[in-house]
Amino acid sequence: MTTSLLSDLKIHFSQAIAEAFGADYANHDPAVAPSKDAKFGDYQCNAALGLTKKLKQKPQDVAAKIIANFLTDDSINDIFETPTIAGAGFINLKLKLSYIESHLAKMQKSDRLAIAKVDQPERVIVDFSSPNIAKEMHVGHLRSTIIGDSIARILEFQGHDVLRLNHVGDWGTQFGMLITYLREVYPDALTKADAIAIGDLVELYRAAKKRFDEDENFKEISRAAVVELQAGEPTAKLAWQLLCEQSRREFQKIYDALNIQLTERGESFYNSYLSNVITDLRETGLLQEDQGALCVFLEGFSNKDGQPLPLIVQKSDGGYNYATTDLAALRYRIREDKATRIIYITDIGQSGHFAQVFQVATRANWIPETVQTTHVPFGLVMGEDGKKFKTRSGDTVALKSLLEEAIARARTDIEIRNPEATEEFKQDVAEAVGLGAVKYADLSQNRTSNYIFSFDKMLALQGNTAPYMLYAYVRVQGIGRKGEIDFASLDAAIKLTTDPEIILAKHLLQFAEAIDAVAEELYPNRLCQYLFELSQKFNQFLEQCPVLQAVEAEKISRLSLCDITAKTLKLGLSLLGIRVLERM
Ligand code: ARG
Repeated sequence: MTTSLLSDLKIHFSQAIAEAFGADYANHDPAVAPSKDAKFGDYQCNAALGLTKKLKQKPQDVAAKIIANFLTDDSINDIFETPTIAGAGFINLKLKLSYIESHLAKMQKSDRLAIAKVDQPERVIVDFSSPNIAKEMHVGHLRSTIIGDSIARILEFQGHDVLRLNHVGDWGTQFGMLITYLREVYPDALTKADAIAIGDLVELYRAAKKRFDEDENFKEISRAAVVELQAGEPTAKLAWQLLCEQSRREFQKIYDALNIQLTERGESFYNSYLSNVITDLRETGLLQEDQGALCVFLEGFSNKDGQPLPLIVQKSDGGYNYATTDLAALRYRIREDKATRIIYITDIGQSGHFAQVFQVATRANWIPETVQTTHVPFGLVMGEDGKKFKTRSGDTVALKSLLEEAIARARTDIEIRNPEATEEFKQDVAEAVGLGAVKYADLSQNRTSNYIFSFDKMLALQGNTAPYMLYAYVRVQGIGRKGEIDFASLDAAIKLTTDPEIILAKHLLQFAEAIDAVAEELYPNRLCQYLFELSQKFNQFLEQCPVLQAVEAEKISRLSLCDITAKTLKLGLSLLGIRVLERM
């Protein structure tokens, strides 16, 4: 059993093709897809046309042979009407109503909506969020956090063994200058916990950077401080730890608000592995010296004079950099964590960095064939003016105030809609709606494009928004309350009679496919689109089909459809990191 009907079909058609035309064709693309147009049925297999040339047979004959072999599996006859051939050998499949009804009943009784886990779970690492110590987490990190969490949730749901890693920037030259600066202006910060707030830390960091850029002497001392730190000198080490803890506490507030689980394993973790990267690269013969720095010359990357670009792995002063750390981390993740799929979520600006790191690791033979490394890039967050997201004062927007504003706006809205409600209720709704809206707005965009951050749009009750989805869920609970229905004890006897019911039912069956698609291609907006269409189809169904007023058998069937829709919305939204409300 696979994770969805579509993936089952791909296997069945592959087998049918191999049986019909011999083992040589076992790896032929079965070209199976959901039908774009309902008049051609629900699924199509478009492999025949591609095979005609090789086989020198008419596409219709090829299709007929595929069908004959496809139908030898008895289970197929329970699921589909007799396949038909259209045009140039396109095989059309239509689901049997009896199958849809019985599968829906299974979905209703299962907390996984009858979606199987993968047969072969993988060890997956999702590297996401990864803010930098002593700097504030900004909207870019928000995107990484939200997208990474959703991808991790989906892979976990599929049964994979997922390690969520926070690759925080907790090492490097910035600490030398920060420590040097604090020794001068605020020595307490280097010995006492809690002496500075993160906001101040960010300010202090800016001031330190300014000094560093302007003052040669300061620069010298800062460099010496980095060396001290790297050598484990106790006062520098303590100072570094305090700074990290301070930032960490601040980051944690955001993670708590957003309900994000992460294992912190910052850049500093890989310190002791960095020199081996250099030694081993030297052994592969890839390492070269260039103006005192050690580097690997890249294939396919060149400067404006057409010369190959180097990836520097050790600077001329002996220091290591971001790329060295990522090479060490990659090796550690393969060797020690035994990961077979490693996913990195960062802004699109780092695409070059990851392509280069992957290239060097591949050429050094550090990535076995069984391991897949993927960079998942995302675009910028833009203000409504279409420019890079900034506050009025021109600063980048701090994440915390952003989330607070979303909650506050949702709160204003509930005050108007439901002034009588309890304080507790209002706050709960405001948080679920506000935070859900921020997450959904991010996830529902194709992640590679820039997206415009608009509170008004993301909080709107209409459109592809979290509130619209949450509202569809609440509607079902409202029907349950009104009819005093206990959904849990509803005995699913589903009978589909009208078009809106069938359209909704078929869409419910495709949930598993939407999840598969995100797990494979890592575009969470695919799941958002699915849920949006589900809400729309559900609302159309409610408009056209009375539920509580229907006669008994019809009523039970329709209530079941409502219940399965709600369960699908709840599970689907939970895979996006969004919680539902019983009332709003
Ligand atoms: N700290 C980096 C930044 O803020 C992101 C780290 C991403 N992960 C990695 N393995 N390089 O841009």
